[in-house]
Amino acid sequence: MPIFSFPNSWIIETRNTGYATGMNAMGLLTHRYWGVRLPRPTDYPPPIAMPGWASFNGPGQVVPEEYPACGGLKYIDPCLKLTFSDGTRDTVLLFEEASTQGEELILHLHDALYPLRVNLHYRAHVAEDLIERWVTVENLGSQPVTLERIFSAQWHLPRFGQYRLTHLSGKWLDENHLQREFLKPGLKVLESRRITTSHHASPWFAIDRGTADEDQGEVWFGALAWSGNWKITAEVTDFDSTRINIGLNDWDFAWCLQPGEVFTTPSAFAGYTKGGFGAASRLLHDFIRHSILPHGPITHKVLYNSWEATTFDVDVQSQTRLAELAADMGIELFVVDDGWFQGRHSDNAGLGDWWPDPAKFPDGLQPLIRKVNDLGMDFGLWIEPEMVNPDSHLYRAHPDWVIHFPSRPRTEARNQLILNLARPDVQEYLIETLDRLLRENNIAFIKWDMNRNVSEPGWPDAPGDPRELWVRYVQGVYRVWGELRRRHPNVIWQSCSGGGGRADLGILHLADQVWVSDNTEATARLNIQEGFSCIFPASVMEAWVTDAASERIPLDFRFHVAMCGALGVGGNLLHWSEEERQQAAHWIALYKEIRPIVQLGDQFRLLSPQQSPFSAVQYMSKDRSEGVLFVFRTHIPEPVMLPPVRLRGLDENALYEIEGESEPRSGLAWMEQGVPVMLSDFSSTVLRIRRVS
Ligand code: GLA
Repeated sequence: MPIFSFPNSWIIETRNTGYATGMNAMGLLTHRYWGVRLPRPTDYPPPIAMPGWASFNGPGQVVPEEYPACGGLKYIDPCLKLTFSDGTRDTVLLFEEASTQGEELILHLHDALYPLRVNLHYRAHVAEDLIERWVTVENLGSQPVTLERIFSAQWHLPRFGQYRLTHLSGKWLDENHLQREFLKPGLKVLESRRITTSHHASPWFAIDRGTADEDQGEVWFGALAWSGNWKITAEVTDFDSTRINIGLNDWDFAWCLQPGEVFTTPSAFAGYTKGGFGAASRLLHDFIRHSILPHGPITHKVLYNSWEATTFDVDVQSQTRLAELAADMGIELFVVDDGWFQGRHSDNAGLGDWWPDPAKFPDGLQPLIRKVNDLGMDFGLWIEPEMVNPDSHLYRAHPDWVIHFPSRPRTEARNQLILNLARPDVQEYLIETLDRLLRENNIAFIKWDMNRNVSEPGWPDAPGDPRELWVRYVQGVYRVWGELRRRHPNVIWQSCSGGGGRADLGILHLADQVWVSDNTEATARLNIQEGFSCIFPASVMEAWVTDAASERIPLDFRFHVAMCGALGVGGNLLHWSEEERQQAAHWIALYKEIRPIVQLGDQFRLLSPQQSPFSAVQYMSKDRSEGVLFVFRTHIPEPVMLPPVRLRGLDENALYEIEGESEPRSGLAWMEQGVPVMLSDFSSTVLRIRRVS
């Protein structure tokens, strides 16, 4: 039973962690504890009750409130900010009651004067040591209320620590850089204002005391399941209390909550481990595979994608030639990327018109799909449903369907505008058009792209406050995608936004995997993939072998990098030699053998490519019987003896064989002494690990 209720106090426990909150003597719902699970309920500390000690420091300032609303003598970063219809901008939340349902706890609060209820929802994900939190707000009155900020949760760190924040930063072609910085008094803000998750920052955090590493140390970590504007604020208050707010971005946000309506925030997930950053990632990986992904923990097929080979020059002939070569190499899924639909000869035209271009596919897609299926492969297709080119039938028919302000020019990016998916008519158009495409063709895989961010975020005919766009757009995306999934439950979907612009726990309710970056240069990819792995399991990480930097980076190296995720190939096979295609067939065959270990096993980041040109990553099956080690060396100018690579995740006392090593040794020996690896510049190796007794 993960939830324990006592009069005015509640404890949520997972396999290894405990979280406690309760009413303090002054009636404030106060955070009490978050850390390792304690043996007895009485072990959890009581809530702090401090009346404050000066007119400048009232109780709202010195007490770690569980979900502080903006009001009273409170100057900390609040979770909730709203305006009542009479103009009052002050919210006073009082405890009403608590209810539990299985693994869910709801703490019901209401405003001291106004008919407004705020429900704090908690759910324990026991096996993965995660707590899920979200909030619902009910307008019980007869006047509207305007929500201006509504976060999903505030997470409190133990008092009086100095904490270090780990997060991801980046940009297009350069996502997922690991950043580590100590938090100082004040606010550190991470956010997206781009209407989507963004390449630039990720709604994920990890906090430690400055001493954790991959293998050990306390780490508090969390993520938001949302694919639109989001915000994380990490605050160190003037009373040395550190807390993390996470939720919808309040920048330019407003939501008019009509009488009787309920607003629900996205879910925030957070966990605690003593096992360092590696364990934190593995908990998230397990959780994503088992509880978020629509198809659960499945492995993905090796795919071929046409983009880097043929760009917009897609037709039956070019794709058939590629498909034949791909099938020969052992590819299982052939994906036609951009360029297949009406009027699409460059990025100037076509988006919105989702039917095959008759000049390229005179008999539709079916002849190509049949050919691909006859070659033993599934067929997949690229779409970019949220976008429209002004040069398209759709835009000519519905120029009002895009996000815009009537008085402003509509800024194009990549020659395209964004359809306003907050509008039900736009949603219906997309559902019907894409449903037809999926009904009429044997499509097993869809890559759903989104190739620009927002500008002029107007919604001229908005039925409510036009600033609801930020949230209603994302809800619209979820609705369209969710409905298509419901109608076509066997299709596998990939989330792409110019690479990794939309990777988050929200989209993974709909997408089975993510295209991590448009940068496919293998050495850059090592870093991008490492950052990505902080949050997401390898099964979600689609990775292609392409021709990028092929003059410098050997094909084996490029394969090894892509084999660390869900392997795909995106090079121009027409230019690959017979020998290269045989090499590829060899790696694809090996990948199929190790795929369950890579995609469904435990991942260990052994040596970081961000710290040295010599890096390594290891995957172990859940039963620890089999593993695979990838080691990479980029460029090290000076003569160097490479250190042995110390393995992780083995049974200490079991005997393991490592490919290339003459004698088996105990798991402990391999973990302590490591595996010797010799590599020259830009070379790599993949070694299998097998338990022999
Ligand atoms: C985006 C994607 C690429 C490719 C192109 C097609 O940039 O990230 O993989 O699909 O669009 O236009």
